[in-house]
Amino acid sequence: MRKLAFTLCLLAFISCKKEEETKEALYPEKTISAEEKQLQLGQEIFDGKGMCFSCHKPDQKVIGPSVKQIAEIYKAKNADMKLFLKEKSEPIVDPSQYSVMKANLTITKTFTDEELKAVETYFYSHLK
Ligand code: HEC
Repeated sequence: MRKLAFTLCLLAFISCKKEEETKEALYPEKTISAEEKQLQLGQEIFDGKGMCFSCHKPDQKVIGPSVKQIAEIYKAKNADMKLFLKEKSEPIVDPSQYSVMKANLTITKTFTDEELKAVETYFYSHLK
């Protein structure tokens, strides 16, 4: 009898666990959309390996123009930020300070297209 009770307990435990597993498999990271993922990657780069945060703040000019201002100008001129970060287009925001930004292009030029797109998405997210 005790054996039976134990087996039943074990069964209940296993079936419970199984249910949890299938739930996870059915909805893998469903709560986060592709766009949000891109935004997260962009922020990670901006705050992490890109070190962009040290010169660019969301709404206010510090060493570099604010993220918002850059996004506004790029949007208004329909310009491609990815090209700028690959050093394939000229500065359009504050060309007089370009030399300060230019040093960073050695880093951004090594970014993958996906990373550049993510950074761009992050900049544009400040317009909303
Ligand atoms: C050492 C300070 C510094 C760091 C670090 C820095 N920036 Fe800049 N950035 C500037 C300055 C100053 C300008 C204004 C000059 C200019 O417009 O090129 C600028 C301008 C820009 C522009 C506008 C370029 C244009 O068309 O004029 C973009 C886009 C930009 N930065 C993105 C980034 C990203 C992305 C990073 C991180 C990978 C970064 N910056 C890191 C100083 C910096």
